[in-house]
Amino acid sequence: MEILSLGRMPIANAFISAVEKKEYFYDLSVAFCPECLMVQLRDCVPPEMMFNEDYAYFSSISKAMEEHFREMADEIADTVSGKPSPFIVELGCNDGIMLKHISRRGIRHLGIEPSANVAAEAARNGVNVIGKFFNAETAREIRNEYGPADVICGANVMCHIEDINSVFEGAELLLRDDGVLFFEDPYLYDILRYNSFDQIYDEHVYYYSGLSVSRLARRHRLMLFDMKPQDVHGGSMRYYIRKDSAESVSDAVKVHLKNEQNANLHTMEGYRGFQEKVDRVCSDLKNCLLDIRKKGGRVVGYGATSKSTTLLNYANIGPSLIDYISDTTPTKIGKFTPGTHIPIRSYSAFQTGFSPYTLLLAWNHRSEILAKEKEYRRKGGRFITFFPELYIE
Ligand code: SAH
Ligand code: TMP
Repeated sequence: MEILSLGRMPIANAFISAVEKKEYFYDLSVAFCPECLMVQLRDCVPPEMMFNEDYAYFSSISKAMEEHFREMADEIADTVSGKPSPFIVELGCNDGIMLKHISRRGIRHLGIEPSANVAAEAARNGVNVIGKFFNAETAREIRNEYGPADVICGANVMCHIEDINSVFEGAELLLRDDGVLFFEDPYLYDILRYNSFDQIYDEHVYYYSGLSVSRLARRHRLMLFDMKPQDVHGGSMRYYIRKDSAESVSDAVKVHLKNEQNANLHTMEGYRGFQEKVDRVCSDLKNCLLDIRKKGGRVVGYGATSKSTTLLNYANIGPSLIDYISDTTPTKIGKFTPGTHIPIRSYSAFQTGFSPYTLLLAWNHRSEILAKEKEYRRKGGRFITFFPELYIE
């Protein structure tokens, strides 16, 4: 059952080098399944079109994420300490932001990373990495070559994989009997609570909740036994899973499942009004930008995020309203945003050319950015944010 429709969309991370370039468009809409309680995209983009040698997102671009993944590596090292020759597998290791710490500790590990450019960076960071898509077949190959895994983990990757049943089947195959599978992704409960609808784009096929993950796990003889909220990417949830056992689940699982049920995420009722809220914030933002322009003001964007593709295309915000978007990722600079064709410039463009208003597209890195841009705000610069409502600060 459809809960949100965002119209024709280009691929979120397909920044283009010239505006004449032909772009791929698909219908971006989200549905809820009352059987498995999953919220997911209806129309999916083929994985090879998104994850290839031109993948635009390098995880290590954010200092806050560096810290987050250092802590994750500490947790993993604690989990396996005392085990003989433990083996860690990370799906979607990207540039090695997490596994490099595991590698430095001399722990056996393997990163699975289909996007060749980011995988090459992981290898440069000392990570053992293979350039494949994880699924049941890859899991079998890994088990044959390396033996069972003590920990299988993934951040912002499980939600990217359309054939999630094959991933869970593979995880069950590869996991040692007393091993742990854990992963984290943007949390459906928070997306609805904060109206952060720009989390919805081609790469995010699934919007997980404890309710849907526990059913998915059970289907593969696995069990969700713990949940830990993560203060990253605008509200994420980490799910801990192990092979089915008589052991009980944590109180945290009970609390989160209860909250989700109270928010009616198990029925269509929980999704009522979502479309209207999205439409309202988009029209408020567009009117605000038009108003600034009418008064002769200038607006630039901060962070050419994948998410911003959804916001800019759905709200129909292009170069007539935003002069350029500043971004620190070298491979994005000099390109144009997918669909809306706003130029992307370097961070130094933002630092040298003062613009009184800045649309904070990388809102998930808000505290890091506001701390960094104290001088901009001291000079009178103002950030426009839009979740859960339009706000100028
Ligand atoms: N874990 C990193 C990267 C997230 S981006 C972080 O949280 O910052 C998602 C990554 O998953 C991309 O690098 C993409 O290439 C990879 N990926 C996509 N499908 C995959 C699959 N089936 N198996 C393993 N990795 C996959
Ligand atoms: P993300 O929202 O997918 O994590 O992407 C963040 C984007 O924002 C990425 O392209 C890098 C950019 N960025 C900046 O330009 N400056 C910053 O200070 C931060 C934190 C991110």
